[in-house]
Amino acid sequence: MENIQEMFAQLHETNVTKTTHRQLYPAISPKRPELSQAGKVILIPGGGTGVGYGIARSFVQASADTVILLGRRVNILEEAAAKLEEEAKKSNTNTKIIKQACDMTNPDETRAFWDSLTAKGITVDVLVANVAKFSEPKPILELGSDEVWSQFEVNVKSHLYFTEQFYSQSNGKKKYLINVSSQVIHMTAHAGVAQRPAYTLSKMAATLLFQVIAQNTPITELQVISFHPGLIFNDAWKSMGLTPDLFDSDEVCGGFAVWAATEQAKFLHGRFVWSSWDVDELAMGEIRKRIDEDPYFLKSSIVGLNGALLT
Ligand SMILES: NC(=O)c1ccc[n+]([C@@H]2O[C@H](COP(=O)([O-])OP(=O)(O)OC[C@H]3O[C@@H](n4cnc5c(N)ncnc54)[C@H](OP(=O)(O)O)[C@@H]3O)[C@@H](O)[C@H]2O)c1
Repeated sequence: MENIQEMFAQLHETNVTKTTHRQLYPAISPKRPELSQAGKVILIPGGGTGVGYGIARSFVQASADTVILLGRRVNILEEAAAKLEEEAKKSNTNTKIIKQACDMTNPDETRAFWDSLTAKGITVDVLVANVAKFSEPKPILELGSDEVWSQFEVNVKSHLYFTEQFYSQSNGKKKYLINVSSQVIHMTAHAGVAQRPAYTLSKMAATLLFQVIAQNTPITELQVISFHPGLIFNDAWKSMGLTPDLFDSDEVCGGFAVWAATEQAKFLHGRFVWSSWDVDELAMGEIRKRIDEDPYFLKSSIVGLNGALLT
């Protein structure tokens, strides 16, 4: 147990903002008027559990017009939708919850889902790229190409397809894409992370995907931010024998996602951040200066090598 607690303490350490948060704080409170999501439709694949559920609850608290949850297990979606409807009543926000069974890797089901939105005249304003496939701890060459590729199908391709559909909707309004990435992408040598290389590879590929999408997309049309949500209890952690008390509050990743879907976060377009980092410290002073001046800061690249755009 001592070792696990030590490892978790280590997994919370970073070197960017001096202040980090494990509980919700005022700047990212979904109830803050400046972060209001009134009139917006939020699509959260995987919003029935874990990180996605925490994000869905925060968008409800931020007065989103509609929150759409996708997933394969209907019972999980129904339970989550019922809890979110309760939250909407409690927060007095009247958010409408839509739940839809859909396997993100099934082309017929995903196409039918987007067609159904068009048929109902629903345009999505915020897409949270959240679903992920985890796999057992094994080296890539032992997992085999089929299993490794199946992680790419969920963790990369499904997000790309949804982003294409999302971006091609035309209602003239700026859209916001929030990619739920992971700290594993910059900790490949960490002993715990190194055990699951296929997950790391696919999460890194998705984060780079969104970075390059952001590079080619005007922020006036689409704002793209990737973030690590913290350590949030889920079935994968449970299967490792861990208990909920070791984990972070999902209010921080939820509040951060709401903040990231506003104009306040536009200086982070195309970058990767942690939800625990203090957003005021990011937005001002030395860190903000580096974000504005260094095109590689908080982005995927090769460590130690720089060319052309030297900084
Ligand atoms: N939890 C953490 O500590 C942590 C840390 C860093 C990053 N993350 C990231 O957070 C995100 C969410 O993970 P989580 O921790 O919340 O795990 P989770 O509870 O297992 O969430 C995954 C969700 O995705 C859905 N899903 C999976 N495959 C799907 C598919 N093919 N089609 C449709 N839905 C599918 C699952 O529902 P069904 O099974 O019903 O389909 C589930 O609701 C992931 O991107 C993960 O990489 C989590």
